[in-house]
Amino acid sequence: METRLLSKDLKVTAVGLGCMGFSHGYGAPTDEQEAIKAIRAAYDMGYRFFDTAEIYTGTHPDGSISYNEELVGKALADVRDDVVIATKFGIASHGDTLKVDSSPDTIRKSVEGSLKRLGTNHIDLYYQHRIDPSVTPEAVAQVMQELINEGKITHWGISEANEDYLRRANAVCKVTAVQNRYSMMYREYEKLFPVLEELNVGLVAFSPLANGLLTGKMAKTKFAKDDLRNKMPQFTEEAYEKNQELIHLLEEIAKRHKATPAQISLAWMINKKPYIVPIPGSRHLNRMKDNLDAANIKMTKEEVSQIDAILDEIPMSDVFGGTKTEHK
Ligand SMILES: NC(=O)c1ccc[n+]([C@@H]2O[C@H](COP(=O)([O-])OP(=O)(O)OC[C@H]3O[C@@H](n4cnc5c(N)ncnc54)[C@H](OP(=O)(O)O)[C@@H]3O)[C@@H](O)[C@H]2O)c1
Repeated sequence: METRLLSKDLKVTAVGLGCMGFSHGYGAPTDEQEAIKAIRAAYDMGYRFFDTAEIYTGTHPDGSISYNEELVGKALADVRDDVVIATKFGIASHGDTLKVDSSPDTIRKSVEGSLKRLGTNHIDLYYQHRIDPSVTPEAVAQVMQELINEGKITHWGISEANEDYLRRANAVCKVTAVQNRYSMMYREYEKLFPVLEELNVGLVAFSPLANGLLTGKMAKTKFAKDDLRNKMPQFTEEAYEKNQELIHLLEEIAKRHKATPAQISLAWMINKKPYIVPIPGSRHLNRMKDNLDAANIKMTKEEVSQIDAILDEIPMSDVFGGTKTEHK
């Protein structure tokens, strides 16, 4: 399996598994035993990098709650030393918004909760899930340094980081990776490439398939009532029409590489920079395998640039940019 280094010393598989969907965001959570089995199967097929978060909980139809970190922890308990587990702190659901809180006391409580749910004594990569404007990057980085000194975490990162925040945080405690939204439909953070290279920080790409749209299989899908995609702009009727050319482009490139559109979406970013690691989410083993195998697709620099040039021009709908946040 292809591996990559995030910053100087965190070795991960070139594709990680986004575990969120097993309990959060995409309709009812998967049955707990099924989810544990699927995450474990991902390990068996070669995944060594797993992404979860404190907030990825979900309620089953019978009212019981599924905690994503528990699923990941149970699935990987006996191979714990062979995998990299990333989790996140700093947001809580608040109606239709996210409440951000990265105060040192909250982080301290969060880390203890995550360690317990994961059933581990350390977290390999601990992300601040969203920037909290009421806490400085220096203060957050200071807590991260303390947690590293105490052995509770080994590396840290920032999700939806901007350049200024990253620079300031990194000056206090070395940042290993940023985890930002990045896909063929959302390339905003390409502007961070120079600073990521200068500071030697990895880019973990979340929603790399634009929440499934770039697989070419979902355009007219009807989602469950509590699926967040009902409100995402890339899944409306009008967006379906507008994105046809993009889907056809993916299908055409896929044909050339004897691959699938999902694999092309991932291979495009994997071949773009050696420090980009996508974490597509899937609850299906065949798709997990498909996504993992995207790391074997080779594209030249010229091919990646040609695709970029087309993406610059091709019509596409708006794409989901994240849930609104609020702070104290
Ligand atoms: N840091 C953050 O704020 C943040 C935000 C969102 C997500 N994330 C992380 O990023 C991970 C991935 O993001 P995401 O789930 O939002 O979006 P995504 O990976 O772009 O898309 C996931 C969707 O695509 C489908 N899919 C995946 N592979 C497929 C394939 N090969 N063929 C067909 N369909 C496929 C999945 O459906 P099936 O399950 O039915 O296969 C799922 O509905 C999450 O699991 C989470 O760990 C982080």
